[in-house]
Amino acid sequence: MTATVAISGASGLIGTTLATQLVASGLRVRKFTRKDGGGQDAIHWDPARGALLPAQIDGLDAIVHLAGESIAGGRWTAARMARIRDSRVQGTRLIATTIAQLQHKPKVLVCASAVGFYGDRGDTEVDESSPPGTGFLAEVCQQWEAAAKPAQDAGVRVVWLRFGVVLAVQGGALERMLLPFKLGLGGRLGSGRQWMPWIAVTDAVTAIEVALARNDMKGVYNVVAPEAVTNATFTRTLARVLRRPAILPVPAFALRLALGRFADEALLSGSKVLPKRLVDAGFRYKWPQLEPALRNVLEGSP
Ligand SMILES: NC(=O)c1ccc[n+]([C@@H]2O[C@H](COP(=O)([O-])OP(=O)(O)OC[C@H]3O[C@@H](n4cnc5c(N)ncnc54)[C@H](OP(=O)(O)O)[C@@H]3O)[C@@H](O)[C@H]2O)c1
Repeated sequence: MTATVAISGASGLIGTTLATQLVASGLRVRKFTRKDGGGQDAIHWDPARGALLPAQIDGLDAIVHLAGESIAGGRWTAARMARIRDSRVQGTRLIATTIAQLQHKPKVLVCASAVGFYGDRGDTEVDESSPPGTGFLAEVCQQWEAAAKPAQDAGVRVVWLRFGVVLAVQGGALERMLLPFKLGLGGRLGSGRQWMPWIAVTDAVTAIEVALARNDMKGVYNVVAPEAVTNATFTRTLARVLRRPAILPVPAFALRLALGRFADEALLSGSKVLPKRLVDAGFRYKWPQLEPALRNVLEGSP
């Protein structure tokens, strides 16, 4: 019988690519949706209201949980920060506690998390054994990950994937960077010394597929490329691939003025995150290095 995988946040950057890939691999994909409609395969839920009928997810083989309010796209107001946190923590808890009640539980729950877990650690290398950092994103990531525990306590294999910046043209951070860079207005952010863990979308999706398939994988995995780069190196490499100059650094104060706390936590700080557990698990990256990854994402080069 065909295995059925449900995806929350299926309309997002990672979810769209994942759904296409899983269907191409012969799996049946069902999508969580917060809207009406969506056909008979849709799983209707409303994470903000705690609404998800157990019958809707009973008998699934696996769930990939990606849903959450975008952290990018503007200033972090108090209301926005609450949505960023609540959409993740409440949504994850709802899925995990509903799974725990099921007669036929999924074999695996793969939950998104982020390298924001580690906060800003300067040049210190961090891996999955490192403690959490400080700040809003680090706290959100801890609460987000903890919210999946009821599923683990109910005997389900849970895999948390801490993604770095996912590189794709159809959305996310890279898409937002393209216009200024193409106009020759790109530049490093602040000092550019902050680390910027990244992963090509193809490898991010493969990591999810491997996590679904391999029974020996459980717990937390950093989903980042092995070639760690700083923001300055990323900027230089992107400019080279686009054949544009990137000589105009964006001053930290201007970013803070425009974006508030988002600038400090998401753009001007970062950690040198190592994918220790993925490498130990023998994960084969298609794009371990930044320049070929960017050339593939932006130019489709093989
Ligand atoms: N892309 C990255 O660089 C990156 C890096 C680190 C971590 N991550 C994490 O990985 C996950 C997937 O990333 P992505 O880039 O695919 O995200 P995305 O493109 O922003 O999509 C997330 C999806 O979550 C759902 N969503 C949006 N707002 C929501 C809300 N308030 N409540 C509940 N659901 C909401 C939407 O799907 P529906 O409308 O279909 O419900 C949306 O398509 C996210 O949790 C993200 O934080 C991503």
